Amino acid sequence: MSTPLIVGNWKMNGLGEAVTEIAAMAGAGRANLWVAPPFTLIDRAVIVAAGAVTIGGQDCHAAFSGAHTGCVSAAMLADLGAGFVIIGHSERRTDNGECDADVRAKALAARAAGLDVIVCVGETQEQRDAGAAEAIVGAQLAGSLPDAVDGLIVAYEPVWAIGTGRTPTPADVAAIHGFIRAQLLARFGLMGRGVRILYGGSVKPDNAALLLGQPHVGGALVGGASLTAASFLAIAAAAG
Ligand code: 13P
Repeated sequence: MSTPLIVGNWKMNGLGEAVTEIAAMAGAGRANLWVAPPFTLIDRAVIVAAGAVTIGGQDCHAAFSGAHTGCVSAAMLADLGAGFVIIGHSERRTDNGECDADVRAKALAARAAGLDVIVCVGETQEQRDAGAAEAIVGAQLAGSLPDAVDGLIVAYEPVWAIGTGRTPTPADVAAIHGFIRAQLLARFGLMGRGVRILYGGSVKPDNAALLLGQPHVGGALVGGASLTAASFLAIAAAAG
């Protein structure tokens, strides 16, 4: 089994001094840490990470360039030294009305720019309560994924677990990750076996080992606990 990939999503957090946390993460000498700071910190983060932490974006536009005020293209991220981009996070799907087709277009743009792409999926509490978690996640995968597995990572983030301190049971994590694997195999054939599937939603140092120990969980997408090197590295250490 490969080493778990631990990805930090800083969301809209971090002013200039916060890159010292990325420098500290880089200093730990682990090979499996990725961090997506806000756009404004990417260039500084790339410098302090010095190749020891892979830096990425939290979103990109689907177009290569053009009249899109306030937007950032995948090529711009790559130009800054970013290695990946998170696409289709539930906060963007909700706050910015992004649909599966938008997510897929962005994922294709990211791949065209040479970035690895983390495509996020996940159901709301209401959808889970209605017994529709797999149907929702299946539809999101069908509509959001690019056409090839190269550079593709999937993140399962149940919306109700994000920032709440609540997580699915290990059995529920295993079940839905197994479902996602089956969808990947159906879509990509045997190539779907190699696609890494991250779990995200209230991952902390004290629950990381249990959540990441489930089948088909290849790492974590971490929000709040990725903001300091201390907690992010503690998650990485717990994950093994
Ligand atoms: P929290 O770890 O803060 O719950 O956030 C998860 C998340 O949304 C990562 O993308």
